[in-house]
Amino acid sequence: MNQETWTAVDTYISGFLASHDDALEQALKDSAKEGLPEIQVSPTQGKLLHVLARLIKARNILEIGTLGGYSTIWMARALEPGGRIITLEFSSKHADVARANFDRAGLSKVIEVRVGPALEALPKVAAEARDPFDLIFIDANKSQMPEYFDWALKLSRPGSIILADNVVRDGKVIDAHSPDPDIQGVRRFNERLASESRVSATEIQTVGSKGYDGFALAVVLAPGK
Ligand code: SAH
Ligand code: DHB
Ligand code: MG
Repeated sequence: MNQETWTAVDTYISGFLASHDDALEQALKDSAKEGLPEIQVSPTQGKLLHVLARLIKARNILEIGTLGGYSTIWMARALEPGGRIITLEFSSKHADVARANFDRAGLSKVIEVRVGPALEALPKVAAEARDPFDLIFIDANKSQMPEYFDWALKLSRPGSIILADNVVRDGKVIDAHSPDPDIQGVRRFNERLASESRVSATEIQTVGSKGYDGFALAVVLAPGK
């Protein structure tokens, strides 16, 4: 099996289960045209985020790492009526592209983009009186994944889902001596996940149009469970 096969099968699956309407298609086209890196989740992965959000009837979603808002649109379309997403993005350029994409998708009212380093935005989100988030998707810079996970826990409730992207990275994650700060960030995140008694978690390896990578999926437990 190789990348060619993974892409062909991913295209086959997304053809019947995760096909793009104009808003998703334009979101990708505009992101590319504006020079954003093409590192958004794949269509089938976007649909996974969507299905998980529906599964838990999500009303409040937090995303860390917006890019052009492709994953945000998939999740926003799964929200219960009255639901909202806050998405955090370091780059004001990425945020501008994302806002235009949300506008076109008719989702500007339910998605709030906050610009700046996520570790500066997260304490502010926590300081606001608000319901806990039902789903938190961690998909920004990998070197700070453990810190994002700590904030995700603070901002969640028992039953919340915490997801993190890119935990496999072509298998590089098993190299304990990797000099790559992203790999070290993922590895520290994994250690944090394993030792955290407030969650039950697993990781799913994925292949497809985005190569070989994976998601961490954790559910927040009730105290004492
Ligand atoms: N979730 C998106 C992809 C996000 S790519 C999707 O699947 O469609 C990662 C994004 O995280 C990039 O846009 C990058 O600018 C942003 N990012 C990097 N460092 C960050 C930080 N410290 N705080 C917030 N966002 C950050
Ligand atoms: C990178 C970030 C991502 O979120 C992703 O899905 C792929 C690559 C990156 O920073 O290289
Ligand atoms: Mg990612």
